[in-house]
Parts: sequence; C-alpha cells; structure tokens
Amino acid sequence: MDLIVKPGKALKGEILMPGDKSISHRSIMCAAIAKGSSVIRGFLKGEDCLATLDAFSKMGVNIDQHEKEIVVHGVGLQGLKKPNADLYLGNSGTSMRLMSGLLCGQSFSSTLTGDASLSFRPMERIVTPLTTMGANISSGKGGCPPLEINPSEKLKAFSYELPIASAQVKSCLMFASLYADGPVVIKEKLQTRDHTELMFRKFGIDVSIEESEGLKEIHVLPPKSMDATDINIPGDFSSAAFLILAALITPGSDLTLMNIGINKTRIALLEVLIEMGADIKLSNVIHEYEHCADISIRASELKGITLNPKLVPNLIDEMPVLFIAAALAEGTTRIRGAEELRFKESDRLESMAKTLNLFGVKHKIFEDGIDIKGVDQFETDLPFNSGEIDSFGDHRIAMASIIGALRSKGSCKVKNCNNISTSFPGFINLSNRIGITLEKA
Ligand code: S3P
Repeated sequence: MDLIVKPGKALKGEILMPGDKSISHRSIMCAAIAKGSSVIRGFLKGEDCLATLDAFSKMGVNIDQHEKEIVVHGVGLQGLKKPNADLYLGNSGTSMRLMSGLLCGQSFSSTLTGDASLSFRPMERIVTPLTTMGANISSGKGGCPPLEINPSEKLKAFSYELPIASAQVKSCLMFASLYADGPVVIKEKLQTRDHTELMFRKFGIDVSIEESEGLKEIHVLPPKSMDATDINIPGDFSSAAFLILAALITPGSDLTLMNIGINKTRIALLEVLIEMGADIKLSNVIHEYEHCADISIRASELKGITLNPKLVPNLIDEMPVLFIAAALAEGTTRIRGAEELRFKESDRLESMAKTLNLFGVKHKIFEDGIDIKGVDQFETDLPFNSGEIDSFGDHRIAMASIIGALRSKGSCKVKNCNNISTSFPGFINLSNRIGITLEKA
C-alpha cells in the first residue's frame, strides 16, 4: 500500500490513541500463564500483538476477543500445550524475544519464525544468556530466526549484566526467570523500559530493584504460581509521538491526545522536545500501575540540541520523530549512542537518512548517530522538497516520513506502508480526523 500525503493545515482535536504495544504483548504473556481469567482493556489489536495472541491460542490458551476488551483464560505456569506448527510471529521482534524466554521453560519443543524483516534481526543477544541459564535454544544462519527451542533441565538461577541496553533482552530473561530454580538478577547500565517489571508485580511476582555500583539490578524470584488480574492498557506513547510531531510542526495546530502512557522510561522524547522549545503540556495524570495522562501540543518553533546519549534507550522508538523535528529546528542537532537503530525493523539510521535526502535536509550519519542541520524555516512555510519516499517496510519510517511530508512543498508518496498496521491500526482514519490529508494512492 502506498500513501499520498498533502502539505499540512493546522491540526485540531482531542483524540484517543490505540493501546500501548509493549504493554499489550506483556499483558497476554502474563495472563496466559496465570491461574484464572484476566480481563484486558485497551489491548492493541495491531498485527504485532495479534501475533502474540495467536501464538498463545496455538498453545491451548482460550482468549475471547470483544470490541473493548479481551479475556484471557490463563492455564497456569505449566499449562501451555505443544503447538501443532511453527509459531509465526510476523514482524514482531518483541513477540519473538520475550516469548523465547518463556518457551525455554516449557516441557515441549517449539519453533519461532517471522517475516522477511524479523528473519534478519539479531537473536544471539538472547540465545547466549538463555544458554548460560541452561536453556536448549538455537538460532538460524547468522544468529537470526528461526529459533529452535527444546526442553531442558530446570533453568538455573543466574546473574547477568546486559551488554546492550535492550528491554527485549531484559524481558526475555525475566520471562525465563519464572522457570528458574532460584532468584535471577539482571543488571543494566542504562535504564530501559520497565513494563515487564511493572506487569510482573501486577501479577503478584516478587520483583525488586536495587542500585549497585552504578548499575540497576532487577531481582526476580521465581513464583509457585501467578494469579489472574485485570489490566487497563494506556494509549501508546510511541504512536502518539507521530501526532505530537505533526501538531508541533504544522503552524496553528492545537491538539490533545488523551490517556497516553507516560511511563518515565518511555517519554524522554517529551523532555527533549521541550528542551528544543516545544509547547507540550500534560494534564489529567492518573497514577495506575502504569501512569497515563492527556498530552496537549501546540505548534512551536524548535531549536537544535545535542542529545544526551543516556536518554537513547528511553526514546529509541521515537528517534525517527526526533530526526524530523531536528530537520525543522534552527541549528544542528547531534545524536550519538544510537547504534541500536541499525537493528530495528529496518536500519533506521540509513532509512531516515534517505528520507532526509529527499526532503533536502543536510545531515551526516555516523556508525552510532547523525548530525542534522535544520532547514531555514524563515524562507517558506513549506521548506521540505516533495517526491517519493520508501518506508523500507518499516512502520515507524513510514509514519515519520508521512508526518515530515506535511511540511513539503507539494504532495508526497510514501511507498510500502502496509506495516503501519503492525503498531498503529487506524492511522489513516485518525490522521484524517485531526486534519491530515492522507489517502491511499
Ligand atoms: C520493546 C523494546 C525496544 C523497542 C521495541 C519494543 C519492548 O526494543 O525498540 O519496539 O517492548 O520491550 P529493544 O529493547 O531491543 O531496544
């Protein structure tokens, strides 16, 4: 599917966003191995989370899908059944990495596969520590999927320092720790998103956090069982980020996004945009197991910054949004410490560099980052060139390019946008509702 986007007029409205992808995945995984039925409200019915849901259905978990909620009838820690076929996880790295940890603790074999993009994503980062724990798991060629998991002796208690800042690796090991013969300690230098920690606690698992020698330690005590619980999933900040950007860069805009997750390990983009001069305000803050709030954005003039590399893990999925903001900010924005961008659904440093090329934005890429020189906005309201952009099959590149095109001199075609539905179903309709002119080519 190719999409055509026209230069933007002011965006207005108050809208609800689809549920958080990371939390939706975790909610299914925990509810499936809990005892009893969990009601999950606000579950993201995007392709990635549906792949997780489908995989657990194939392992004998009954899941009722209603319009506003899903009900997962958990089978207990040892109750999953051997699937009849490979578990196909589409585009979803989160499903594959987190489920691997959980599946290493089962008494049956399983094989995990994915689409063309997922089939090239690195899995050694989980295979190595899982193997140290005693798991029987192997990857395919070059350390990539498919993953082959076979039963092993009970997984061992262990302590592991994450060599890369990755919530997926941390969470994979946390799911494996549910099946370990003693406490598991995972240490991180840079804090990554803590949704698994919060979700585990919601299901009654003993998770404690300690600081030691500059490292954050997550201690998980393997439970005897987990009890079902009801879960409200807030709107996805990473999806909201595209509309935050749209409102910021389109003159005259005033937009409110309601009930968005504001977990502090996810929203570094807000901090950075505010430093760049953005007019963004939070209201109606709700302190649940995951905090959420309404986010109001007004169009703002931005200035370039040098990003603190420590913030990178807390805005890793929002980097394409930050690149476009930087391209419209006065001066140069410098981003480093972001080499993980090269291992996402596409090499996001390369993909975004191509988008910036088309828009006519000067930049220089490095192995772990980029310098972006903002265009001169004073000359014209529509400083970007227009033309055809490829999304490289990457949902976040597609959406960042579409929003950037709101400041192009003419219509842009963004090619290959099917993947938007992996994380943001309803993106086209929602965009049109707030005043973005976006249609299928
Ligand atoms: C995710 C963690 C991040 C993020 C991904 C979702 C998660 O990946 O990019 O979209 O739900 O844990 P890494 O932890 O590999 O950086």
